[in-house]
Amino acid sequence: MDYFEYKNALLHCEGVSAGDIADQVGTPVYVYSAATLLGHYTAFAEAFAALEPVICFSVKSLANVHILKLLGRAGCSFDIVSGGELARVRTAGVDCSRIAFAGVAKTDREIREAIDAGIMLFNVECEAEFENLSRLAGEAGAQVRAALRVNPDVYDPQTHRYTATGKKETKFGVDLDRAEAFFEAYSRDQHVRLDAVHIHLGSPIYSPDPYVRAIRKILELIEHLRTSGYEITTFDIGGGFAADYEQAQAPTAGDYAAQIVPLLEGKDLKIILEPGRQIAANAAILLTRVVYTKQGGEKNFVIVDAAMTDLIRPSVYGAEHFIYPVSLRDGAPAPQRRIDLAVDGGVKVDVVGGVCEPADFLGRDRLLPPLGRGDLLAIFSAGAYGFVMSSQYNARPRAPEVLIEGDTLKVIRRRETYEDLFAPELDV
Ligand code: LLP
Repeated sequence: MDYFEYKNALLHCEGVSAGDIADQVGTPVYVYSAATLLGHYTAFAEAFAALEPVICFSVKSLANVHILKLLGRAGCSFDIVSGGELARVRTAGVDCSRIAFAGVAKTDREIREAIDAGIMLFNVECEAEFENLSRLAGEAGAQVRAALRVNPDVYDPQTHRYTATGKKETKFGVDLDRAEAFFEAYSRDQHVRLDAVHIHLGSPIYSPDPYVRAIRKILELIEHLRTSGYEITTFDIGGGFAADYEQAQAPTAGDYAAQIVPLLEGKDLKIILEPGRQIAANAAILLTRVVYTKQGGEKNFVIVDAAMTDLIRPSVYGAEHFIYPVSLRDGAPAPQRRIDLAVDGGVKVDVVGGVCEPADFLGRDRLLPPLGRGDLLAIFSAGAYGFVMSSQYNARPRAPEVLIEGDTLKVIRRRETYEDLFAPELDV
């Protein structure tokens, strides 16, 4: 479900046409739909409602302060992985007791900042980190809470190897067979109350099955720990819930919940969920304009003003984002968002950016209607791991972000200027 629709042959985000957005703020630009974000959050919350979970939106997927504010007002909590993300959530005015902090490399500074902020939970990834957290909490005279991130050694064969984290040989968490020794060593710590378990399987996980397998394993662990006298109050099952990059490709929140909720009901556990992508991915398009078209050998290239610097997922993970013109030709039907479907009169093209690297592509071998200079294209499902992974490579100022609410357009991050590129080099 999202609010990017063709009306009168023009793509609209809620009540505003893509053409008007491009006219007002230029291209490339990230365009977010508030109704879509909130709709996805509500659907997720409703699907898992029986567990009364804490839903921590994964800030790494989409971190704009205005978006965090919007989700915070809707009741969302937050999953962070850095001091920078903590600062963003604080700037959004969110109560810090709604923050869970994961990450394998938390520095002393970041830990101190999170202790000062009074966050809900530290998701601890190894023994050395626990000892450091205890030392810093002691120094601050604070009492904090921690979950042990356990590596359940299950994975989804469809998940890209760069984003599969739940396997044994990763840098994340501690192996399941070390978990009991961890509780044995640290559960009586003076400054850190260790009473929770955290997992995150990877991202995206295209089926509920890996969750079911991992949750079963962890419930066994929790039961065992409880029998051994350790108090376990909380189970954070992480994120990774897939989003529809193409139509009807991913399980819905309801599909995941149908398998997961029955396993966790009545277990006397506070459940935390950390969705990012399922809430954010389809809540934005990246709007871009064709600069040139050209041929190279047998290939047709559509060269656009967005690039891998704006959306790096195709280059890094081979991710396929649906791409389509924002204006439909006379009488042409609105596209179903399926890359493999034929387009009447379609031409096979590579949609590429202007960065000086062959790896700079946004879509390859795509059938698109004939395109020319100045045409506008929408790159769909760009809301998660889109803007947050953008860079200034090739000295390209980062794109602006706009939020659409009904008929209202609000710029929530301005386009960077050339001065923004080098200001930190001049005030040294
Ligand atoms: N919790 C933890 C501990 C995580 O590491 C992640 C994502 C999430 C939650 C949220 O996962 P989500 O629900 O958004 O799938 N840049 C890659 C994705 C990297 C995800 C890293 N961790 C991409 O563009 O696909």
